[in-house]
Amino acid sequence: MLLVKLGGSVISDKSEYRRFREDVVWRIAKYLPKEDMIVVHGAGSFGHILAHKYKITEGYSDDKRLGFSKIQRDMIDLNLRILNILVENDIPAVSMPPHSFVEMGNELNFNLFDSLIHHKFVPLSYGDAVFDVNKGINIYSGDLLMLELAKKYNPEKTIFLTDVDGIYDKPPGEHDSKLIKVLHRRNDPQTEISVKDVTGGMELKINVMREIAKYSKVYIINGFHPERIHDIMNDRDFVGTVVL
Ligand SMILES: Nc1ncnc2c1ncn2[C@@H]1O[C@H](COP(=O)(O)OP(=O)(O)OP(=O)(O)O)[C@@H](O)[C@H]1O
Ligand SMILES: [Mg+2]
Repeated sequence: MLLVKLGGSVISDKSEYRRFREDVVWRIAKYLPKEDMIVVHGAGSFGHILAHKYKITEGYSDDKRLGFSKIQRDMIDLNLRILNILVENDIPAVSMPPHSFVEMGNELNFNLFDSLIHHKFVPLSYGDAVFDVNKGINIYSGDLLMLELAKKYNPEKTIFLTDVDGIYDKPPGEHDSKLIKVLHRRNDPQTEISVKDVTGGMELKINVMREIAKYSKVYIINGFHPERIHDIMNDRDFVGTVVL
């Protein structure tokens, strides 16, 4: 099985509210398998901008209700656009909105995922605004969902697509930054806290990928070069990072 995350920074322009990159998602879809796969997508500018504005990760208050609704609406909109592209590319994807099966602080219920996988559908889920047993409301990161799915289903390969070539030793814009081809436990890449990512950006992603590496082979590559998905699926040399 392949577990793949379409990063919010790839499928949307994170600096402009609800700016979808339709052409990019079409190109990626051409390189995805038609079965034996679970797809998770990020939120990008369909989630992070309002999540930040309404401080959703700080928990419930009455004045956040409309923000919470809008984020869920925008994520359903983004999810439908991606679902549409996958289905038009003959991938039997079925949408699994986290706000209907995730309550943070409680164990996830995988029953519907089990049924979908049993019937050889391709579950399509994402990061979302959800309920939280302690905080009332919160943002559930697509990266954390990737971890839960990897633990549960032990995919052979797990690929994260993002807007840079892989993990760099320091933030990719900085002078002299170098791509790390194999991220070992001893490596400690520098990351930056981005205001455009309410769930922890690259730092959380690296921690999650290291944890997933216990269950799966983990890769992070540039989603703007989706042919690299084929390189990985065919065990060829590729541009990107393997996380050990
Ligand atoms: N050391 C680093 N190596 C690689 N990228 C880094 C590093 N430090 C910071 N980054 C930044 O992390 C960003 C990717 O993380 P981000 O959480 O935005 O991606 P995403 O998962 O695609 O988005 P989303 O969370 O919406 O799904 C890149 O745009 C990059 O600039
Ligand atoms: Mg992120």
